[in-house]
Amino acid sequence: MNGSQDMKEKVLQKFAEVFGDREDVSVYFAPGRVNLIGEHTDYNGGHVFPCALTIGTYGAARKRNDRKLRFYSMNFEAIGLIETDLDDLKPYKEADWTNYPKGILWAFEEKGMKIPAGMDLVLYGNIPNGSGLSSSASIEVLTGYILKDFFGFDVTNQDLALIGQFSENKFNGVNCGIMDQFAIAMGKAGHAIFLDTADLSCQYAPVRLNGAKIVISCSNKKRGLGDSKYNERRSECEAALAKLRKELDIQSLGDLSEAQFEEKKGLIEDPVQVRRARHAVYENRRTIQAVEALDAGDLAQFGKLMNASHISLRDDYEVTGKELDTLVEEAWKIDGVIGSRMTGAGFGGCTVSIVKEEAVETFIDKVGAAYLDKIGYSADFYAVEIGGGPCRL
Ligand code: GLA
Repeated sequence: MNGSQDMKEKVLQKFAEVFGDREDVSVYFAPGRVNLIGEHTDYNGGHVFPCALTIGTYGAARKRNDRKLRFYSMNFEAIGLIETDLDDLKPYKEADWTNYPKGILWAFEEKGMKIPAGMDLVLYGNIPNGSGLSSSASIEVLTGYILKDFFGFDVTNQDLALIGQFSENKFNGVNCGIMDQFAIAMGKAGHAIFLDTADLSCQYAPVRLNGAKIVISCSNKKRGLGDSKYNERRSECEAALAKLRKELDIQSLGDLSEAQFEEKKGLIEDPVQVRRARHAVYENRRTIQAVEALDAGDLAQFGKLMNASHISLRDDYEVTGKELDTLVEEAWKIDGVIGSRMTGAGFGGCTVSIVKEEAVETFIDKVGAAYLDKIGYSADFYAVEIGGGPCRL
């Protein structure tokens, strides 16, 4: 992997520049992720089907002899060096991106794993900024992996995912599910992860695309309102579940079949909540069917389910918006597009499309031109590969 060797050298050079030398520095990597199908199901006890990517976050780190923490990101050079220490593990607005590694240090301590010494850390991510490919979860898992390697904590990669989610929920205030951190911590090259978020059981599914490519289209729309809307969707689903539980013995919306939902949806009353719950229930079933289709080599069916997922996210869950809808609807018009949908939280961020190799260039040209015309600024496109989980390089 020449790419990763180049990246390793780049962070090491920056480390020497920022901290004086590169003696005893170790370099680590944690991937980004893309979700193929199963959106907004992870906090509803449903299934998801994400994969880790070969792009992600590189970190050069060195243990210190004192309790200082010094953080530097090559993606935010203007912010410069941020210094703090192990006795001040609180989130601050001005601490910016460093609230992610800090959150992990805090979470380890909360879980009873005392961090004995500080560190110097330089990060460099090649996940496009603000793309919705989980750069923050990537930093979280990376930091956890470094702590495990430095201090020998007895934690599995699945533990690192849970610690990442815990820090995101409790330290950074985003009520996310487990999907992103899990996909990153448990990634496997060439495979997507079929995860049941009700009990964290998972299976690796080989992603055989017969030469087709996974293309990410980045809307370049920043999320802004996204996080509050995200928490709002969560509460709407919780409210719907509470009403269904008056008659049904279920733990989550993911426990329901479509037929059970159709029979009992009247209990929910509120029409908006009915639509939110309908998405959660049907999306969960679609995810299970999509994994079956992929296993059977029926890529066309997999693509149709991706398209149906987008329609449901657009009409029932209402988390797409003009930018993501334009990217997807323009993609659907192109010959050689097997499926296309928004991916991640929505409201901005990116879409994922499965595109036949010979159509990728046309896809980028045509979708790019139509997007610029309708939205007024450009989208970015990346053909991505499925990679493995966190590692030391
Ligand atoms: C974000 C969250 C995930 C998941 C997705 C939507 O990426 O971090 O937990 O809920 O949105 O599927």
